[in-house]
Amino acid sequence: MMNLLINIDHVATLRNAREETFPDPVHAAARCEQAGADGVVFHLREDRRHITERDVRLLAETVTGKLDFELSTKEEVVSICCDVAPDLATLVPEQREEVTTEGGLDVAAHRQRLTTVTDRLYDAGVNQVSFFVDPVPDQIEATAAVGANCVELHTGDFAEADTEDAQRHEAERLATGAEVAHEAGLRVHAGHGLDYRNFPLFRTVVPHVAEVSIGFAVMARAILVGMDRAVGDMRATVTRSQP
Ligand code: PXP
Repeated sequence: MMNLLINIDHVATLRNAREETFPDPVHAAARCEQAGADGVVFHLREDRRHITERDVRLLAETVTGKLDFELSTKEEVVSICCDVAPDLATLVPEQREEVTTEGGLDVAAHRQRLTTVTDRLYDAGVNQVSFFVDPVPDQIEATAAVGANCVELHTGDFAEADTEDAQRHEAERLATGAEVAHEAGLRVHAGHGLDYRNFPLFRTVVPHVAEVSIGFAVMARAILVGMDRAVGDMRATVTRSQP
């Protein structure tokens, strides 16, 4: 069965908007797991706009399923990640001005730093290291060459496609990317913009995906119908959709 990991960053965004102590992303993570998520994802950004170090420490102690720590290659954040040693570390590009993570990593352009960081993460006891990349064969091959053992395919273009043809075209790019990753021996993850509606097509067209990471769609729905139902509905969508 495909793993469903839920990103809880937006709970922290809401908390921080009022400089409050609630809603607590740590509580949200527990609810997500109880409602059927296989694990929890967070991104500790350099500017700490949502998740804080306090959240990271408590999530590391309390999440019982898989913990995915998204990070840039900045030394300060890499050190925290090594200290926490999550099940999975996902390296993502990070720009201060962006609203959310925009493109995938340019692996070839940052090969040296990515190699150093990947080695440090393994040495710290992180078993899975993933790079978040666009579904471009060269980037995926570079991911394997640098030593990551997983790749997260960026599904943003697929999610944003505004015609059926464009969406199918993007799904096929992802399918090619997944084949390349699988051939290169990488465990295939995917995420960004996946939701209740686009997931079935994604599942039908893209092979080899072991895990998806979904945040915004679930949190947006949780505000209206509650976390248990929002996560439960996504769990059902992921489980019911067939290759
Ligand atoms: N994967 C990565 C690497 C991301 O940066 C994000 C966005 O934070 C997601 C998955 C989840 O995207 P969304 O919130 O659109 O579901």
